[in-house]
Amino acid sequence: MKISVIGTGYVGLVTGAVFADMGNEVVGADIDQRKVDRLNEGVMPIYEPGLEEMVRRNQAERRLRFTSDVDWAIQNTEVVFICVGTPPKNGGETDLSFVESVAVKIGKNLNGHKVVVNKSTVPVGTGDFVKKVVLMNKRTDVDFEVVSNPEFLREGSAIADALNPSRVVIGASTEDAAMKVMELYATLEAPVFITDVASAELIKYASNAFLAMKISFINAIANICEKSGANVTEVSKAVGADQRIGPEFLNAGLGYGGSCFPKDVVSLERTARKLGCDFALLREVMKINDGRVDHFISRVTKRFPNMKDCVFGVLGLAFKPNTDDMREAKSVTIIQQLISMGAKIKAYDPVAMDNARDIISDITYCDSAYGCAKDADAIILVTEWREFRLLDMRRLGDLMKSKVMFDGRNFYDPEKKKSMGFEYYGIGKGEI
Ligand code: UDX
Repeated sequence: MKISVIGTGYVGLVTGAVFADMGNEVVGADIDQRKVDRLNEGVMPIYEPGLEEMVRRNQAERRLRFTSDVDWAIQNTEVVFICVGTPPKNGGETDLSFVESVAVKIGKNLNGHKVVVNKSTVPVGTGDFVKKVVLMNKRTDVDFEVVSNPEFLREGSAIADALNPSRVVIGASTEDAAMKVMELYATLEAPVFITDVASAELIKYASNAFLAMKISFINAIANICEKSGANVTEVSKAVGADQRIGPEFLNAGLGYGGSCFPKDVVSLERTARKLGCDFALLREVMKINDGRVDHFISRVTKRFPNMKDCVFGVLGLAFKPNTDDMREAKSVTIIQQLISMGAKIKAYDPVAMDNARDIISDITYCDSAYGCAKDADAIILVTEWREFRLLDMRRLGDLMKSKVMFDGRNFYDPEKKKSMGFEYYGIGKGEI
């Protein structure tokens, strides 16, 4: 099938690569000429395991190409995926201006029947909006359909998620349009949910908000654990063993970050309010999440009441492992707060340091975790990269001024660390 993917961000690029890999002829279009040029040279704008290899292979086999000529891409394809950004506006509502400008272009270039598929995360009702904009701009008497096909992939495992989705959701107003999109997923062994456009749009927000709620829930339980002597890891394991609850997204820590959960939870709360439904639960989810860094810092402050001249080694900067994405990364606020209290920061991340340099200055970037540990008063683990599990802890400890460790993700086994002489502080495991 001839497909265009408008927008080569996270979702667009991965979607385009995967559809090409499944044998379709894909054009990835983006208004950013520099990005397009680099993609045509095989250089990825993001770090994502397996992406570069997949893109290059499909480029070589001429199933995937990139262009900044969005009009051309629309004119020459039968299915057009909208994969542009939907950032939050100041009040938290979703900014649909990029979606709107693509819809205008689709209208103007509608030279034959097309299925327009919205993959960007958009508030319920956006499908109707896109339809209206295309109708207003179309110059010919050809038909089109607007379908919602939300994407559930996670950064860091995007390719694997796109190839093995937990489910495929297709929201369409006609059977033909739904079948056309379903054909694209025919080779994947995933349950398919065909529904109306509005439900499909809401499924995405409901899923992300529910997962965010699970994280905030366990973080609130972690606070109780700290006061009561309970251990949140033990609690979460046994709570998650109930199949009705499930073990995933029950890791207490510094809270959720990234490009999706923070903005999607706010957006759903605003949409609900607009529709006259008060979703107070979501406000509490956000409040708990927003409080995580302050709570963590208060624990560090208890151990180091005077931070002037303290040196902290921060392990991990990306918002989560296996990505270089710094959007809503907890490292940023943690480091800012520690610096404001007089501490000096050394930091190391396996892939996110280039992006971090644009956001966090006045710290020393190190080329390894050991560099971070040298002469440090404490190590603060912010992002649980797998390589941090493989560290030689004796060497790390020997380099430090004092063997203190704050584990913001409950990544390490406290008993093991303590037996190695570390003063260990996790989340939800006792008071400081
Ligand atoms: C999320 C959804 O999982 C995905 O389906 C959707 O398409 C986009 O948003 P992503 O933002 O890539 O994906 O990351 P995810 O792995 O879901 O983690 C989100 C945040 O929650 C991270 O900051 C992570 O550290 C945090 N988290 C996750 C926890 O704090 N505890 C957990 O138990 C799980």
